[in-house]
This record gives sequence, structure tokens and C-alpha cells, in this order.
Amino acid sequence: MTEQNKIREQFPILNQKVNGYDLIYFDNGATSQKPVCVINSISDFYKTSNSNIHRGVHTLSRTATELFENARKTIANYFNVKNDQQIIFTSGTTDSINLVVNGLAKDYLKAGDEIILSAYEHHSNILPWQMWAQENGGKLKIIPLLEDESINYDAIPSLISDKTKLIAITQVSNTLGLITDIEKIKSFAQKNNIPVLLDGAQSAPHMLIDLQKLNVDFFVCSAHKMYGPTGIGLLYLSEKWLRELPISKPGGGTIKTVTFEKTEYAEGALRFEPGTPNISGAIGFAAAVNFIKSVGIQTIFEHENELVQYAQTKMSELPEVIIYGVSKHKAGVISFNVKGQHPFDVGTLLDKYGIAVRTGHHCTQPLMQHLKIQGTVRISFAIYNTKQEIDFFIEKLKKVITMLS
Ligand code: ALA
Repeated sequence: MTEQNKIREQFPILNQKVNGYDLIYFDNGATSQKPVCVINSISDFYKTSNSNIHRGVHTLSRTATELFENARKTIANYFNVKNDQQIIFTSGTTDSINLVVNGLAKDYLKAGDEIILSAYEHHSNILPWQMWAQENGGKLKIIPLLEDESINYDAIPSLISDKTKLIAITQVSNTLGLITDIEKIKSFAQKNNIPVLLDGAQSAPHMLIDLQKLNVDFFVCSAHKMYGPTGIGLLYLSEKWLRELPISKPGGGTIKTVTFEKTEYAEGALRFEPGTPNISGAIGFAAAVNFIKSVGIQTIFEHENELVQYAQTKMSELPEVIIYGVSKHKAGVISFNVKGQHPFDVGTLLDKYGIAVRTGHHCTQPLMQHLKIQGTVRISFAIYNTKQEIDFFIEKLKKVITMLS
């Protein structure tokens, strides 16, 4: 059995027909499929250890607490984080960004302050900042793109002022797959003492993330795009922000002592994790990280990059196809349109051949406005995708083009 088949075998969902054809799953940017080890880690937890955590002296509760806290350690270790308390479990990227915005809004951000975002951002990294700005007299400044859709780093100095309080930027564009040069962003930020929030929703599934090396203030990502379950993700806080970020979601579990007059909050990650957390989700997230480690993130990156270059070359040969953001430096994603056709029509017809793609604005309407289009068709790869699948996709894309013309 080839290495590729050994990997595919671990994803039972791939072994099915859709509309009479073998499923080709090219919608990994939206969510990846889950290997058996992740599925089993969740069902094993419910079969053997389900209990609430941090609350009970009984054996099951202690076992569940240990599994949950070990998951935190596994994930901290994977991202090379010194102190596992810097990893806060959230429901995902969106929740993590909201925790940061609402925390900073308490006393760090003031009326007139400015936040810098990029033109790549998905709505999750726009809306919470926009709401803060609208409600508090803040301002968003946007790093523009160049002709080739890469980030115009030279424009950054002119966006920075003494009111700039944070740069919040994605590491990989979910729509274009283009990769941000974080070292460049950091050089501007550090010169001006501006904290950086790095959105890793689309980078963590594809690239090595070493949070000590990256040395940003905040990092966020979602497990479900990394072969893990939905409804769980993380917020990484630098040591400074772990001490200083005010909590904005108080509740059971976040405390040391409570009276009706006042509350003393816990220290570390628990301070930010109110209520009963997604225990099985955290365990599944750790299993997903172990899956990635077993394959090797560099192997994943190289495999997906090879698929992107292979598909990009083949698609460039089709005169009816427009690709947005062609580059050799991409993380697993190609966005395209068929000239004169609506992306929904292309996506719907591809589905008839069992090919799952995402169509529309990909939660990046401002980027669509910049590109002057309504939406795109997006194919996004994972470790289990193959060149044979791309060949089949190209063959059917040609058919779709003929059908629609
Ligand atoms: N942000 C996810 C995507 O790009 C949902 O599809």
C-alpha cells in the first residue's frame, strides 16, 4: 500500500460515492475531514470517561480533567508554547478574536484608537473590530493589495500613527491561499511597539507554527480545519497578555472565590474558559495534532504545495479560467472563476461529479469588492488529496465549461 493510500484509509468519509462518483473533497478550507484516531478519541471519551472537569473529586471527573489538561499540554507542545496556560480553549477562531477584542475594549482601546487589518481578512477578523470601532469611536485602517493580490507592505508605514493600537492579520488568505510575510509585519509593529494578532485559521492546517519563534501577542486557530472536531479552537496569549488581558466572559470555572460583593478570578487559562468547556473537542483537537505530527507538517505543506502548483498549471491552460492570486508561495488554496459564469453554477455542476468545492464570497466580501467580483470557486487541499483527483477535476471542469457556454 502506498503512503498516500495509508493516509486515505484513515479517513472513512472519503470512501463513498457522491452522485454516483467517488467523492473528491476539495473544500478543506471550510473544514477538513477527520481521521479515525480523532473520531475514536471522541467516542472513547464518551464511552469510558465522560464527566465534568475541574469540579469533582470522583474518579471519572479526575480522569476527564486529566485528559482535558493533557490535551492542552499536547497542543501547547505542538505549537512550541512555553507555558501550557498560554493556550486557551475557545469554540474556534471567531470566538478567540472576540475574546481579544472584548478584553482589549475594557481598558486598552480608547476612542480615536486605530486598528490595522489587511484586505485579505475574513469577516471573523473584521466584524468584531468594526463593532468595537463603531460603538467606541475607533477606526480601522486597511493594508491594501498590489496588482498580483499580494500585500502591499510598503503601504504599512503610512497607516501607522500614534493611535495605532494593534495589527490583526491573517497568516494565509482563506480565499486566495497567499501567505503573509509575518516577519515584515512584525518589523513594522515592533518598531512602533504595536501588538500583533495573527489569525492562523488557514495557516495552522498547512504550515509549521512555532509560537516562540513567531513571537506575536495573540494567535488564533480552529481545530476543525486541522483534521479535528468542530466547535473547538484556541487563543494563544503571550505571557504579557496572559497577565494583562481583562476577561470579558466571566462564569463558572473562571474564579477563585465569589461573594455577592466581589469575585477573585483564577489565574492562567481557566480565567478565560467559563462554563463547562468542550471537553471531548479538546481531546479530539489533541488527537488531530498527534495525527499531523505522525504525518509531519512539512510533508503536509510540501504535498499540498505540489497539488496547488499541479492544479494551477493545468487550470492556466484553460483560456476560460481566471485564477486569482497565482503564486508559487501558497498554502493549499486556489480561487478561480469561469469567464462569464456564476461560481454557484460551476460549483453545482462539479458536485454532480462528486467534486466538493466552495463557491461564493468565502466570508471575504471586502476582498471580493477589491477584486470587483461577486465570488469565486475555491478548491482547497488536504494531505489526502491526490493528483489523480486533480486530473478528474480538470476533466470535469472542461465539461462544465462546455455545458455552460
Ligand atoms: N472561513 C472558512 C472558509 O474559508 C469557513 O471556508
